[in-house]
Amino acid sequence: LFDYKQTDFTLLWLFLSSALRTFVVNVTQTSYQAEENHNITLEWTFTTNNDSSLNSLSIYCELITDHMVSVLYHLHEGVEVPESQDEQFAGRVQCDKDVLREGRLRLHVSRLRTEDSGLYQCEVFTNYGGSLGRCRLNVTGELVQ
Ligand SMILES: *[C@@H]1O[C@H](CO)[C@@H](O)[C@H](O)[C@H]1NC(C)=O
Ligand SMILES: *[C@@H]1O[C@H](CO)[C@@H](O)[C@H](O)[C@H]1NC(C)=O
Ligand SMILES: *[C@@H]1O[C@H](CO)[C@@H](O)[C@H](O)[C@H]1NC(C)=O
Ligand SMILES: *[C@@H]1O[C@H](CO)[C@@H](O)[C@H](O)[C@H]1NC(C)=O
Repeated sequence: LFDYKQTDFTLLWLFLSSALRTFVVNVTQTSYQAEENHNITLEWTFTTNNDSSLNSLSIYCELITDHMVSVLYHLHEGVEVPESQDEQFAGRVQCDKDVLREGRLRLHVSRLRTEDSGLYQCEVFTNYGGSLGRCRLNVTGELVQ
């Protein structure tokens, strides 16, 4: 008894589950050290799919500390959503959109503050999978001479 529908479904399921399993978000560095008022570039890399456009890419990045969670970057289906961003990061975060296509998420954070210290988590969603990656940033106060 050969059931076409069942077979199609099984193949689709196998295809999707393997695609989801192999989607990764890596960090290029697990921890960063910086000084107050300096700039930094945090970088993640993720699995790319040859025939996928930026329109299928969504990204959600948060800073997680003991006291709070704040959003620093949000991209929804290829379009930036600045309204999602927390006041703390307003005007201080820039994403290098040219390299997104290559699977590189580069976030430039300028004029660092000590309260920017914590765990940075970026979730990446595409039509072929999704995952997340985390790194730490430790911003220390400027040395007093
Ligand atoms: C993620 O890291 C693994 C292990 O180092 C590596 O094999 C893989 O190619 C990386 N993938 C991406 C998309 O950076
Ligand atoms: C990616 O797509 C291009 C053209 O669309 C094709 O020539 C190339 O072989 C593809 N590469 C892979 C790794 O599938
Ligand atoms: C930090 O970035 C800002 C804006 O992105 C730039 O104006 C400034 O020169 C940078 N400072 C350093 C020390 O690179
Ligand atoms: C942050 O950096 C300072 C100076 O290097 C160090 O003393 C401190 O332990 C670091 N904090 C964390 C949480 O890594």
